[in-house]
Amino acid sequence: MPDIPLDTLDVVRSYDDRSWGDHGPTRAVEAVVEAGKVLAFPHLAFALAEPERRFLDPRWADVKAKNVSVRWPSGKLRGAVGAPDDLQALRAMIVRFAEQSEALALRLFPHYRGHLRRGNTSFRPTDVAGRVRSWRQDDTRLHVDAFPSNPMRGTRLLRVFSNVNPNGEPRRWRVGEPFEAHARRYFAAIGRPLPLSAWLMAATGITKRRRSEYDHLMLQLHDRAKADAEFQRTSPQARVDFAPGTTWVCYSDQVLHAAMGGQHMLEQTFQIDAPHLADPASAPLAILERLAGRPLLS
Ligand SMILES: [Fe+2]
Repeated sequence: MPDIPLDTLDVVRSYDDRSWGDHGPTRAVEAVVEAGKVLAFPHLAFALAEPERRFLDPRWADVKAKNVSVRWPSGKLRGAVGAPDDLQALRAMIVRFAEQSEALALRLFPHYRGHLRRGNTSFRPTDVAGRVRSWRQDDTRLHVDAFPSNPMRGTRLLRVFSNVNPNGEPRRWRVGEPFEAHARRYFAAIGRPLPLSAWLMAATGITKRRRSEYDHLMLQLHDRAKADAEFQRTSPQARVDFAPGTTWVCYSDQVLHAAMGGQHMLEQTFQIDAPHLADPASAPLAILERLAGRPLLS
């Protein structure tokens, strides 16, 4: 049986690497990830020390927070509850994941060296299936990542995930159509943002910085896809199960994805500005600018 079954769309590429750092065999695969593929490593487990196994329990997650996370550059732990000694050990585990993920990313994508910025590292000990959410926050619906309060202005979201489930439970995803096909599906129906709205949202703190027309389009794609029941049901899609011990890497602002189930995962986000990609023309920004026929970062 193949390691990563059921991906009839050929979105997932599987690699045999068994180490995170410089010694693994796979390197310089920028073209694969930038083409919108998910790079899966079925034999690249994030190893927990025996005392760290106690953290595989939702009780460490503050119910008011979305995730347990370490923020960078401060390195502070957020969203966790427990005694100081425990929290220090939990933080150390998450920081180790951040460091190993970074070593992996720089080996896979040496072109990004000096340009990859470490974003949040999150630990998700809660079950995906148990979360009740609004349709817009429902990540069991196919979507590309885009955030209302955090305009990216063309900066990419590269993510490293690792399933650390101790009970054999896979992380279950659906993946969907290529980004350009997805953008073309909704592009003609999306209007331009209202004049002054980007300025107003930045001035009042609704957004962290000015929302560009690129961000407007990405948010519209995110929302329209999630709100479109017909799209969710009938668009090209494939089921992918990431077994425990699997690590996978993708641009989550490009790969249509839905998290259908699973518990106990670590995730590292990296940011990189589109001009530093090996092929900037592959980025959602370039694809949307081609469709629009004009620059979208004003
Ligand atoms: Fe997502």
